[in-house]
Amino acid sequence: MAAIQNNDGASRGHFGSRFGFIMAAAGSAVGVGNIWGFPTQAASNGGGAFLMVYMFLIFLLGYPMLVAELMVGRHGQTNPADAMAKLGRSPVTKMIGSLIGLASIICAAMIFSFYAVLSGWFVSNTLAPIATMVGADEVSRWLIDFSFSRNAVFTLVFALMCIYVIQKGVQDGIEKWSKRLMPLLFAILIASVIYILFQPGAMEGVSALFTVDFEKVMHPDVIIGALGQTFFSLSIGTGAMMIYGSYLKANENISKLAVHVTFMDTGVAFLAAMLILPAMYVAKHNGVTIFDGSGNLLSSDTLVFTVLPALFATMGAAEHIVAIIFFALMSVAALTSAMSVVEVPTSYIVDKTAMSRKKVTWIVGAALTALAMAVVSNFDFMFGFMIKLATEITQPLVCLGLAIFVGWLWHRNSLLTEIKGQDGADENGIFWKVWPLYVKFVCPALIIVLISTTL
Ligand code: PHE
Repeated sequence: MAAIQNNDGASRGHFGSRFGFIMAAAGSAVGVGNIWGFPTQAASNGGGAFLMVYMFLIFLLGYPMLVAELMVGRHGQTNPADAMAKLGRSPVTKMIGSLIGLASIICAAMIFSFYAVLSGWFVSNTLAPIATMVGADEVSRWLIDFSFSRNAVFTLVFALMCIYVIQKGVQDGIEKWSKRLMPLLFAILIASVIYILFQPGAMEGVSALFTVDFEKVMHPDVIIGALGQTFFSLSIGTGAMMIYGSYLKANENISKLAVHVTFMDTGVAFLAAMLILPAMYVAKHNGVTIFDGSGNLLSSDTLVFTVLPALFATMGAAEHIVAIIFFALMSVAALTSAMSVVEVPTSYIVDKTAMSRKKVTWIVGAALTALAMAVVSNFDFMFGFMIKLATEITQPLVCLGLAIFVGWLWHRNSLLTEIKGQDGADENGIFWKVWPLYVKFVCPALIIVLISTTL
């Protein structure tokens, strides 16, 4: 494998295998958004109708944009700001490109600020049943109750886990851990779905998922929610996929790899819905409340951190084991996603300075942790605010900029060279004929229409 020179002369990391890349990119995509966000959004927003709108957006908007991000990253062989600048043809467009790239790096930092807090809860909830099993009831209570100290400690623990993986680099860190953790996640998820579907009450949850209520889907909040969920779930607009693309070899066929990643991401979201919704109705069957006073589903954090543990509590001897398995699943999904988020600013600074990757990871990790701590200290305001700012505003806007750049500014000859280098890619085939036009016209139009529904 040819090593590509970095700005500081060190060779740039690459994924060692196709499987490694798919696991890492799917690891970034599959996360809390799939397992925690998607099922509850589907449940409260029209069931099967939300599922349809979401599938539509994932394949008609998410997939082509994922291809765009990976292509720009691989073409640039550098961080998002410089990769985007490379597409510009004049000093002004180069500057705008690098600003869009920088916006995606800032977006990654914003995502980390709430994602680490949330993920910390999953880690603490995994440890709580263990504490109970060894008789440390007070510790167990502290682990599950919302408090500043618990939130701060576990945000830090989770951030350290990410830093540990990322400082090791592409093959030894990201790829190695994704290859270990993703198959584990699939196994736990499938076993949990099979288990829950055999519990009494589960079928009511399955039918809630497939009931189609179009009226709810047409609501602007739901549409922007589905749009945000599409970008968030595929990790696009944050530079994460661009960076992973930059670690791809020139002959890898991006349109095919992106199909794998998109299918895995959607497949896991669907499986998670087949786990969480039935689990809620099993809980209801066991006497646990899942609706609020006005008949609406409880909010997703209440569902995951209160309703599910209440369900586990009705399971007798299996209670603690099931709880550990469930929250470990969430923690694994969260870790492989958050790793990719930390990689974005890290790679930028590695490219820009002569510092070692290890050192940069610790500096970036410390800065990101400080931001997450600001969210912990100011939870009521900042947690929801950061989620909205990052996923409903910044990600769609960065994607819009990306589509415009790729569609309108990327020089045709340079794009063709990028396409031709890929194994099995035919620049005269239908996909590569349609895709540039699609990204040029359809993607920006779709994003603008969807954003404008909320204005
Ligand atoms: N895709 C991840 C999830 O669904 C979140 C994520 C967003 C990861 C953006 C990286 C970048 O949970």
